[in-house]
Amino acid sequence: MPIVVDPESGSVATLLHSLPTGSQGVESAERMRGWLAHHPEEYIVVLGPHLELDEALAVCEELRISRPTVSVVLVREGLDAAVLRAAMKAGARDVVEDADADALVAAVGRAYQLFVALRGPAGAVRRGSVVTVFSPKGGVGKTTVAVNLALALNEGGARRVCLVDLDLAFGDVAITMQLFPSHSIEHAIGAEDSLDLEQLDALLTRQADSLMVLAAPAHPDVRERVSPHLVTSVLRTLREGFDHIVVDTAPAFDEQVLAALDETDECVIVATLDVPTLKNVKVALETLDLLGIAADHRHLLLNRADDAVGLSAEKVESILGMRVAARVSSAVEIAASTNTGTPIVVDRPEHQASEALRQLAADLIGDVVEPPDVSLHLAASTHASTPSGAHPARPGVPRTADTDDERVRSRFRIRR
Ligand SMILES: Nc1ncnc2c1ncn2[C@@H]1O[C@H](COP(=O)(O)OP(=O)(O)O)[C@@H](O)[C@H]1O
Ligand SMILES: [Mg+2]
Repeated sequence: MPIVVDPESGSVATLLHSLPTGSQGVESAERMRGWLAHHPEEYIVVLGPHLELDEALAVCEELRISRPTVSVVLVREGLDAAVLRAAMKAGARDVVEDADADALVAAVGRAYQLFVALRGPAGAVRRGSVVTVFSPKGGVGKTTVAVNLALALNEGGARRVCLVDLDLAFGDVAITMQLFPSHSIEHAIGAEDSLDLEQLDALLTRQADSLMVLAAPAHPDVRERVSPHLVTSVLRTLREGFDHIVVDTAPAFDEQVLAALDETDECVIVATLDVPTLKNVKVALETLDLLGIAADHRHLLLNRADDAVGLSAEKVESILGMRVAARVSSAVEIAASTNTGTPIVVDRPEHQASEALRQLAADLIGDVVEPPDVSLHLAASTHASTPSGAHPARPGVPRTADTDDERVRSRFRIRR
């Protein structure tokens, strides 16, 4: 999907308007390089009018050699012969005037044709992975983890990430990020059978760091009208336009959360060091087993892992029968960053909690990162999340429920 580079966010928004749904906007050429490193299927870079001409030409030169299948389109505020000559010499595929949306649309069409001719249509297909953050208890840090994981995966725009707030009655993703959504999942009700990416894109709220958010409804009573079918439809549609979809959940196996878990590729389970939470997490893990959800793709995150309450991480591992994949200690900075609306991975990237969450994000998608310099208390383990350690994360591998799953599921639903 096209990527737009412009230091001015207003300009990014205007250009994105003329580009296909699912296009990404970033503020600098450096961030664009991060994006390209993760997107071998990318076919076009649009350099906005506020990117300095010299820098824009340098990008054209660079990509002409390093990524010949990527077309670079230069958008300029006024076109003169000198700019055109310099752009063509540097290897720009097209130069269009800022106000000329039609010319930009045509340039994108040509770039796509060229890409298909060079790589074949399969090269441009995208299927994102769904990462669900779950815990049967409230207040353990699910939203904090979901928000920070989404930002870590987004990596300043290097990947296209959508955070979905499925705590439908009391969702607080938007407030945690100080966003004021004009739309929410509520506006997709009724479109379950016809939902497409373009419709859904209009319901998303953009966070400053180019993360997209599908907010929870503003009123708790709407939850009843969000069907599990709609949840499935939303997540499947988002897979077409995003690299990763991070789902924050309610602290219960409600039917909407079950629908999300069913679509889940990687499940992060949040626990804290107290007996009631661990008891409930144990029951939740058994339920996930019965339902066949994310087996071998579960990652236990121990939040407030340094609380001196007489329970060690080792004890937790033996109670739950799974390894601790990441530990985040209690830190006043985490709560403070929630209160200021700038999550810790952005507010304090060097903080040990941020490093642990970034490492977990990398583990989830199978990325190789430099081992973080973290203390014993905060280190994110590099082990797989299963006791055997024999199943590393396989990102993006879809799950399908078999008949047994369905049988257990219906039994479970009746019991609820
Ligand atoms: N490791 C931590 N250290 C300090 N405060 C934390 C930590 N994790 C979460 N919090 C705070 O605890 C509160 C509840 O966290 P939240 O993520 O909303 O939980 P949940 O979504 O599970 O209900 C928030 O105010 C959050 O800032
Ligand atoms: Mg929450």
